[in-house]
Amino acid sequence: MARLARLCVTNQKGGVGKTTVAITLAGALSQRNRNVLFVDLDPQGNGTEGLGLTDAYDAAPPTLFDALVDDSSVSFDELVWHHDEMDVLPSNIDMTAAEASLLQLDDGERRLAKLLDTADYGYDYVIVDCPPHLGMLTDNALYAAPNLVIPALAESTSKRSLELLFDYTRAFEMEHDVQIDAKSLVVNRIENTGEATEMLEWFEEAVPDVPTFEVRKRVALQRAFSSGRSIFAADEEIDMCERFRAVAASLDEEFSTTEMTV
Ligand SMILES: Nc1ncnc2c1ncn2[C@@H]1O[C@H](COP(=O)(O)OP(=O)(O)OP(=O)(O)O)[C@@H](O)[C@H]1O
Ligand SMILES: [Mg+2]
Repeated sequence: MARLARLCVTNQKGGVGKTTVAITLAGALSQRNRNVLFVDLDPQGNGTEGLGLTDAYDAAPPTLFDALVDDSSVSFDELVWHHDEMDVLPSNIDMTAAEASLLQLDDGERRLAKLLDTADYGYDYVIVDCPPHLGMLTDNALYAAPNLVIPALAESTSKRSLELLFDYTRAFEMEHDVQIDAKSLVVNRIENTGEATEMLEWFEEAVPDVPTFEVRKRVALQRAFSSGRSIFAADEEIDMCERFRAVAASLDEEFSTTEMTV
């Protein structure tokens, strides 16, 4: 049985860096020789695009949408794409209909977990990139991948977004009898402002038990996205590589001591 760490990169606030963090962290883990499956659950398909798989986003059925909505119709093998750094379950234009379709099902929030249970590739990590809203797709991510990596901006609006997220996950835990743990907080796109300094102190007090990592604003991360790979494969060593290596190392340490099985 393989050891599998299931990570959900989430924050219902838009544009905070979920996709950037998910791709870069996947790249950092891949560089540590970890076998990674990246799941793009966002109907916007930014993660799919940022890994250079726009063909998959535009592909005809069967897609991830069909696998989630009709769990017997399509196998994991038909959906998985291979990228130099990781395997990918890409999003697709059809995913825009997923929220409404999943709501009609009795077990609508468990479909991704069921699909991942059929994947037999010996992955070490599954990294799910969430959409910027709370609903059936995020519920699928929480159920399948209850270990949170939370990107947040060093702006005062993050106070409410973290409160909302933690309220939501607490309610989800009770309703679905699962345990959700915040494993990393990535304070992202930091610039030299008084607000950023104040917020870094606030994060320390608000979530003292969650390992926190600081990622500064760097255009190299945007360039890597445009080139369809993580910064680790883009051959451009920047200071923030070290930060993402630290996130990867911290997760490796966490999960090598906790046996998780599929
Ligand atoms: N550390 C960073 N430095 C510079 N640009 C960044 C950084 N992190 C993210 N960005 C840029 O900010 C924008 C938003 O990032 P991203 O798409 O990762 O956020 P998101 O939370 O996934 O958005 P959404 O909520 O729409 O899914 C993108 O243009 C991305 O390239
Ligand atoms: Mg995104």
